[in-house]
Amino acid sequence: MTDRLTGKKILVTGAASGIGRQVATRFVAEGARVAFADRDQPGAATAAQAALEAAGAGAEALAIDMDITDEQSVTAAYAAVADRGWTLDVVVANAGVQLFGRDAKAADLDLDVWKATVDVNLTGTFLTVKHAVRGFVEHGGGSLILTGSPTGLNGEGQDFTAYSTTKAGIHGMARTVAAAYAGQGVRANVVVPGYTETPLVTTISGDPSSRAAIVSRTPLGRPGRPEDVEGIMVYLASDESSFATGAIFRVDGGMTSL
Ligand SMILES: NC(=O)c1ccc[n+]([C@@H]2O[C@H](COP(=O)([O-])OP(=O)(O)OC[C@H]3O[C@@H](n4cnc5c(N)ncnc54)[C@H](O)[C@@H]3O)[C@@H](O)[C@H]2O)c1
Repeated sequence: MTDRLTGKKILVTGAASGIGRQVATRFVAEGARVAFADRDQPGAATAAQAALEAAGAGAEALAIDMDITDEQSVTAAYAAVADRGWTLDVVVANAGVQLFGRDAKAADLDLDVWKATVDVNLTGTFLTVKHAVRGFVEHGGGSLILTGSPTGLNGEGQDFTAYSTTKAGIHGMARTVAAAYAGQGVRANVVVPGYTETPLVTTISGDPSSRAAIVSRTPLGRPGRPEDVEGIMVYLASDESSFATGAIFRVDGGMTSL
C-alpha cells in the first residue's frame, strides 16, 4: 500500500458487504479514516473491525448505522461522522439492491418491485448525495463516487427493467451534480463494475449456466472480483483525480464494449 489517502475522511455506503466492504477496507489500508455505513449494522461493525485489524496500528475506521432510504437516518449518519470530528472529503454512494426473481421485463414488472428498487437505488442514492454535497459545499469541496452498472449503459439489463433504469438514473445524477457544483469544488463520478461476484449476485454465481452466460459476455473472460474496482476508487478518492468530474469509469472486463 502507498498511503495515497492519508488524511482523507471517507464514508462508504453498503460497506457491510461486497464491493463497498472491499473498497472501504482498501481505503483504510491507504491511510484514510473511513466510515463503514450500512443498514446492516452488525455487518458494518464486523467489516470495520476486520479492516482495522488488517491495517494495523494507526488505522481508523468506524461503523455507522445508515438506511439510505430514510432521510433522518442519512442525516443522523452524517452527524455521527461529524461528531467524531471528521469533515468528509469523499463519499462513495455504493449501497444498492437488485431484486432477482422479481425484477423483470417492463410488461411483467410488478409496481411494488419497481418501487422497492427505486427506493433504494435511486432515492437512497439521491439522499446520500444530497447531504454529502451540503457538507462538501460548506467545507470547500469533495469527491463523490457513485456505483453504476453496465445495465445502465447497454442492453445487459434487458430482463431487469427496474434495476437497469435506476442505474441509468445514477449515471445521470452524477452528471447533474458534477455540472451543478463544479464551481464549488465538488466532483462527482461513476464507477461501473462488470459482473462482480458478491452476495448480490448469488442467483447468477450459484447457477453454472447463468454464470457461463454472463462470463461469455465479458471479453476478459472471467467474473469480476470486488478487488477489481479498488484501484479506480482509490484514484477517484485521491487528489490524483482532481480534473476528473462528470465521468463514467468502466471496470467491467469489457462487457460494455460489446
Ligand atoms: N455485483 C455486481 O455484479 C455489480 C455490478 C455492477 C454494479 N453493482 C453495484 O455495486 C453496488 C454494491 O453491490 P454488491 O455487489 O457489493 O452487493 P452486496 O449485496 O454485496 O452489498 C450491498 C450492500 O448494500 C447494503 N444496502 C442495501 N440497501 C441499503 C440501504 N437501504 N441502506 C444502506 N445500505 C443498504 C446491503 O446491506 C449490503 O451490505 C450496488 O450498487 C450494485 O448495484 C454490483
